[in-house]
Amino acid sequence: MKRKKLVAGNWKMNMLSSDARRFLEEAVPNLADEAVVCVPFTVLSQMSERIRALSTGKPKLAVGAQTMSEKDFGAYTGEIAAEMLIDVGAEYVILGHSERRMYFHETDEAVNAKTLAALAKGLIPIVCCGEAENQPNPEAFVGGQIRRVVEGISKSDSSKLIIAYEPIWAIGTGKTATPETAQKMISHIRTELREVFGEQAEEIRILYGGSVKASNIRDFLAQEDIDGALVGGASMDAASFVAMVEEACR
Ligand code: PGA
Repeated sequence: MKRKKLVAGNWKMNMLSSDARRFLEEAVPNLADEAVVCVPFTVLSQMSERIRALSTGKPKLAVGAQTMSEKDFGAYTGEIAAEMLIDVGAEYVILGHSERRMYFHETDEAVNAKTLAALAKGLIPIVCCGEAENQPNPEAFVGGQIRRVVEGISKSDSSKLIIAYEPIWAIGTGKTATPETAQKMISHIRTELREVFGEQAEEIRILYGGSVKASNIRDFLAQEDIDGALVGGASMDAASFVAMVEEACR
């Protein structure tokens, strides 16, 4: 099964509207293939409009959010619902990033509820998993995360799902997993997904994340089960983002 490679940026709590504008002016005309940037809520609307204006034909760059509520509309002060994201042009949403788990106490059960809500509304969830540095038996730990976050997803919806494996110690540290270790864990994740979704698991894209940049992305993408990268720091620079997308479509 040939899965299309994907580079997804994660800007985290960075970038003002002027930064987003500059990024798009440089990135959009130069993208070799489709890619995604997951951005702060505050720039989503502006970015989806600007991408359309800068694109000839179907835009290559899609935008996504970095979290969302599992609830529909209602009295949930401060929260953002899936339909609101779609309303401002988002097509993707990162769910269960380790920073959300660490600082905002998101559990696998909450991530599961958000994932089901995103799929029900038509957003593509990029669901994160990964272990801390001192985690005993990382494969069992990550396998458990995966089983809990995909609970209740139908086989037909499963092919829309994207998983990102991000070892916590590799995020923002400049230390990556070796491509071989990442491949081993990601192949283990696919085995878990096969147990739940059968053959359909072959269609689920699994990304590696953690200190990926233009100079190392190729080694990860060369691995059999690694279908792309979730990139933090290096995704905010247009030139490096464009270079990573170029590597992904070689
Ligand atoms: P990093 O972040 O590329 O800056 O390590 C990755 C992520 O948190 O998704």
